[in-house]
Amino acid sequence: MKTLTQITMVSVATLALIGCGDSYKDKNEDGVSKASTLKASNRNAAFLVDTDTMSLYTFDKDALNKSNCDAECQKIWPLFEGANTGSEDIKVLEGTDHLAYRKHPLYYFANDKAPGDVLGNNVKDVWHLVHAPAGSTDSQTALSKTLIKQTFLTDKDQRALYTFDNDTNGVSNCYDSTPTSGTGCESIWPVFYSADLGALPEGTTAADFTVINRDAVRAKEGEPTQQVAYKGKPLYYFTPDNKEALSTKGDWVKGVWHLVELNAQKIGDDTTSTPTNNTDAGKQIYTNCASCHREDGLGTPGGAIKIGEVGDAGKIEELLNFMKNDGTGKNSIMVGIAKGLSEQQIKDVSAYIATLKK
Ligand code: HEC
Repeated sequence: MKTLTQITMVSVATLALIGCGDSYKDKNEDGVSKASTLKASNRNAAFLVDTDTMSLYTFDKDALNKSNCDAECQKIWPLFEGANTGSEDIKVLEGTDHLAYRKHPLYYFANDKAPGDVLGNNVKDVWHLVHAPAGSTDSQTALSKTLIKQTFLTDKDQRALYTFDNDTNGVSNCYDSTPTSGTGCESIWPVFYSADLGALPEGTTAADFTVINRDAVRAKEGEPTQQVAYKGKPLYYFTPDNKEALSTKGDWVKGVWHLVELNAQKIGDDTTSTPTNNTDAGKQIYTNCASCHREDGLGTPGGAIKIGEVGDAGKIEELLNFMKNDGTGKNSIMVGIAKGLSEQQIKDVSAYIATLKK
C-alpha cells in the first residue's frame, strides 16, 4: 500500500513537451517551481462490501466482464459469488456465479479477517476497493459505514480528472464520432491538456505523465489535439461535474470511467460499533480539516468563522448538516467536504472541534 512517506514531492520548473509517448522532463534549472496545473485532492468515500461488511476488490488485470485471476490467485483473492438480482450494477459473469460490479469482477482479500478490514487496497497497485456511488448496490452488497480518505488527481482548481477503461496505453478512444465509446464521447468527456504541468502533486513523479497526440481528423473542432496521460492513461474532465471543485460525478460511469487514485487511508472506525459521540474518531477526521481550519480551529479559510471558538458541538453539527443537506450560499469546496461525511462522522468531528475551545 502506498503511504505518504514513500511519496516524494517533485518540484518541476520547466517541463518540455516532446512528441507522443515521451515523458515530461524535469528541467529544474533555476530551482523555482512554476504554478501547478495539477493537484492531489481529497474526498471521503464509502466502498463496496458484502452483507457481512467484508470488503470487496477489483483487479486491474481483469478485462471488462472477464476475470484473469487463476486458481493460484484465487487462494489469496477468493471470488465474490452470488446470483443476479435484477440489478444493472451487480451481475454475474456469464455462465458463472462470480459477481461483478459494473463489469469489474469482485474479490475478497484472504488477509481481511474482520469487517471493515481493507488490507487488500492498492496491493501491488492493481487491487482496489470500489467507491461505488450511492444507490448502486443490491441485496448482496452494501456501501461501507467506514470511509476511506481518497486522494485523487484533479486540475489546479480541484476539478476531477478521469481515465477511460476503453483506452489503451497512450491511445484515446474517446471521440464524438466513435460508436464504441458512444457518440458525443469527447463532448461529455473533454480532454485535459496542458503544455506545462508546473509543480506536480504529491504522490506523482514527472515520469508518470506523458503527452499523447489525438487523432486530428476525429478530434472535436477547437479542442486540444494533444492530451496529458497518467501512467499511459489519457485524462479527461466530465461535463456534468459542471466545473465544480471536488465534484466526482464521473467516477464509475458505465463502469469504465474512473478517478485516478493517488493514495487512500482508512479514517475512523466502523461507526456501527461506535454509536456514541467519539472525540477520538473525531480527532482522526479532523486531520482532513486542519489544512484549512488549522490544528487549533482558528483558521479562517475563505472568510470562514473560527470553528475552534464555537465550543458547542450541537452548533457545529448544525452548520455541517446544513452544508451536507443544503449548502446554499456556502463555499462549494466546504459543501463537498460536508457531503462526504456520514452523520456519525459529523457528530464525531463536531464533538472534537468543540473541545478545541480554550
Ligand atoms: C479546502 C479547505 C477546507 C477544508 C479542508 C475544510 N474546510 Fe471547513 N470551511 C472552509 C471554507 C472556505 C469555509 C467557509 C464556508 C462558507 O461560509 O461558505 C468553511 C466553513 C466551515 C464551517 C462553518 C460553516 C458555516 O456555516 O459557517 C465548519 C463547521 C467547517 N468548515 C467544518 C469543517 C470540517 C469539520 C472539516 C473537515 C472534515 C473542514 N471544515 C474542512 C474550507 C475548508
